[in-house]
Amino acid sequence: MPELPHSTWSGAAPGSWLARWLSACADLEDLFAHHHLLDAVIEEVDGRRIRVGGRWLIDFASCNYLGLDLDREVIEAVPAYLDRWGTHPSWSRMLGSPALYPEIEARLTELLGSADSLLLQTLTHIHASVIPVLASDGTIFVDSRAHKTIWDGCVAARAHGATVVRYAHDDPEALERLVRRYPKVPRLVCMDGINSMTGNPPQLGAFAALAREHDALLYVDDAHGFGVIGERDRSETSPYGRRGNGVVRHLGQSYDHVVLTGGFSKAYSSLLAFVACAPELKRLLKVVAPPYLYSGPSPVASLATALVGLQVNQARGDELRAVLWQRTRRVLDHLEKLGAYTLNRSGFPIVEVPLADPDDLARAGRFLLERGIYVTLAFYPGVPRDEVGFRIQVTAANTDDEVSALLEALERLADAVPLRAAA
Ligand SMILES: Cc1ncc(COP(=O)(O)O)c(C=O)c1O
Repeated sequence: MPELPHSTWSGAAPGSWLARWLSACADLEDLFAHHHLLDAVIEEVDGRRIRVGGRWLIDFASCNYLGLDLDREVIEAVPAYLDRWGTHPSWSRMLGSPALYPEIEARLTELLGSADSLLLQTLTHIHASVIPVLASDGTIFVDSRAHKTIWDGCVAARAHGATVVRYAHDDPEALERLVRRYPKVPRLVCMDGINSMTGNPPQLGAFAALAREHDALLYVDDAHGFGVIGERDRSETSPYGRRGNGVVRHLGQSYDHVVLTGGFSKAYSSLLAFVACAPELKRLLKVVAPPYLYSGPSPVASLATALVGLQVNQARGDELRAVLWQRTRRVLDHLEKLGAYTLNRSGFPIVEVPLADPDDLARAGRFLLERGIYVTLAFYPGVPRDEVGFRIQVTAANTDDEVSALLEALERLADAVPLRAAA
């Protein structure tokens, strides 16, 4: 395999700002330099296998949970949209939106059961622009394990006059103590839906009750839940529930005092994201959110894959979720058999596996790579030191044979590089 090019940052004098950044990110820089699971160039894709250099790997790092990136119905539908709309609208939404936008928003609003919804390009754009609006010069309470893009939105809000307070991960009591201590309104509580590293849902019922009691707004990022989990009922094909309409519906909550954000860039394999909110907030965001006013829109291919993806979801999404659940279950059962710890308590398809010794990360990654397995390395400071390890993501497009290959590799890995033991 060819060596990846590596920047040496040779101009970073000791004590300079560059040297300080470099030292804060030393673990990651080292992995970039020596590890082919990071910063890789993927040269070919065949189903859920990818070629990096001369090596074919089974991909367990993809977030395309429903496998719609490879779905023939979705792929074959796209050219007709390109013929009709061209490749890219290139107006900001303020100027005009192809009719695809209101069509997707109407379908999405119906699916979520929200009052309304607004599409923007990505969750990164949404957090950076919507959090400062909602927080104004009040107080933001942010979960200590919220996604980095939420934190960045909070930093932008702080620059606009908001106070930012961090509370212990998924701890409603800790939040309540802080809400009493920081009275400045408006109050915004920011958190992940399905957490991107643990794979677990928050105690949404308790947080929503707190939000209603203290007239706060709960702002939830369900990048990883939307499309994967949904409302529960007897006809469900798996414990993920039906319709993939996200964490709020899955946990039987309402949208009272809740703003749900989510993305199409994971389960729906498209560059698009949404805010599910009241119509008045949608009207406000159209005149104050810079990505609506000043940024380019999503490409037509993304709008098309989102729209067709929603149709596929309606027709056979629950079948795909049943497959996803079965394959994920195999991974979780196998880890249990090996006595290995995972942060995942939910059964959802994000499975982080910490190592016994964080310094073994590069070795564990190389071991999996040599056995043809591609996973996400969970490095410090991206995760706490005692959670350094790797994250497996399962998609409906991973075959049973591919999962078997993963299980065998995990078994051998556990002999060669100690995994953190289950309690
Ligand atoms: C929880 C979470 N929020 C936000 C994002 C960013 O999403 P987007 O690509 O739509 O900006 C990610 C992406 O990985 C994520 O995992």
